[in-house]
Amino acid sequence: MHGARRGYEVVGMKTVAAVLHEQGKPWDIVEIDLDGPKDHEVLVRFHAAGLCHSDEHVRSGDSRGRVPMVGGHEGAGIVEAVGNGVDRVAVGDHVVCSFIPVCGTCRYCQTGRSSLCNKGLNAGIGCLPDGTFRFHENGQDIGGLCCLGTFSERAVLSEWSVTKVPEDVPFDVAALVGCGVTTGWGSAVYASGVRAGETVVVVGIGGVGINAVQGARMAGARDVIAVDLVPFKLEMAAKLGATHTFGDYDEVREAVKELTWGQGADHVILTVGVMTREVVDFGIELTGKGGTVTITGIPVMGDMTIVQNSAAITGWQKRIQGTIFGSANPLYDIPRLLGLYKAGDLKLDELITRRYQLEQINQGYQDMLDGKNIRGVVIFDA
Ligand SMILES: NC(=O)c1ccc[n+]([C@@H]2O[C@H](COP(=O)([O-])OP(=O)(O)OC[C@H]3O[C@@H](n4cnc5c(N)ncnc54)[C@H](O)[C@@H]3O)[C@@H](O)[C@H]2O)c1
Ligand SMILES: [Zn+2]
Ligand SMILES: [Zn+2]
Repeated sequence: MHGARRGYEVVGMKTVAAVLHEQGKPWDIVEIDLDGPKDHEVLVRFHAAGLCHSDEHVRSGDSRGRVPMVGGHEGAGIVEAVGNGVDRVAVGDHVVCSFIPVCGTCRYCQTGRSSLCNKGLNAGIGCLPDGTFRFHENGQDIGGLCCLGTFSERAVLSEWSVTKVPEDVPFDVAALVGCGVTTGWGSAVYASGVRAGETVVVVGIGGVGINAVQGARMAGARDVIAVDLVPFKLEMAAKLGATHTFGDYDEVREAVKELTWGQGADHVILTVGVMTREVVDFGIELTGKGGTVTITGIPVMGDMTIVQNSAAITGWQKRIQGTIFGSANPLYDIPRLLGLYKAGDLKLDELITRRYQLEQINQGYQDMLDGKNIRGVVIFDA
């Protein structure tokens, strides 16, 4: 007990949220009902929520998702109440959401791979780990994307879905570490295992890819080649650690050949907004012997994006792999990356291109699709 308000004192409330009622339609801003926290759950008042492309995949129908659904899986705020038995956080703590819960006891959590926690299985349904819902509208259950739903003033979350962070970190940058920052950084540092002196290509410089650039640089890569179709993205990549930037695939082919004396890249990290076969083929082509292709971006459901004759993959011993949450461990890496931010090593303020009110969320996503933002962030008025 941390002098916390107990869950049974919080009987329920209203909250304004961005809800997806039908895939393919815009987010609706509506007032909905929110239950109080049950055992091992916390009530969080959000201060900021990041606009990741994965929510857009669910909105557009690229990805499967149960509706109605409160969007948002990057969020930071303050714990306002806790249910019985909560011991990870207390009332008043500043927290960042983890888009994969960390139960601590499944085989993946127990082996240092908590980005694979078995409790992540309800992400697209949006219920809490016990299978029930805390958001409701006219008596109907509403999910929260990734068991979160950060596009809401308040949400009730499993204590497994929150990580305590220092109070002096601004909420807007903290929110981004709940997905985009950690996913990109970890795609380079953990999944690819970038080492000093290597040549790394990052394809797609959004809120995820820009952090793969930062991670590759921090891990000591000699060449960090950023690829995007939007010039503004390449300017940002150059500011945050890319040694070379290109908007044209043939120029990338040429540069990788020159820089590596024909051997190919050590690592190619694919972080485009919508993964395609063309991008995967390009990544495999750029990779040299013993190199890795890391697929972080998500395709349209059902699209065949890995279609290759495997002889060269075998003979050149290439590794093609996926990564979720950058293969990071949320409880360890979220505070760690915020520590790197405080030390000035990891740039986070620079990632926020525009801030929005919740009511402007559809505009925020349009700006993302138009290539105007590294990251857009929703700010909730206090
Ligand atoms: N694996 C995970 O754990 C995880 C976590 C978060 C996001 N994601 C996925 O990662 C992807 C990136 O997310 P984001 O939020 O950074 O998206 P974003 O829309 O902010 O950025 C995508 C970038 O890719 C660029 N791009 C698009 N097509 C391209 C192409 N053919 N070649 C080069 N560049 C291209 C765009 O210009 C944009 O800059 C999405 O698919 C998202 O769903 C995966
Ligand atoms: Zn995300
Ligand atoms: Zn687990």
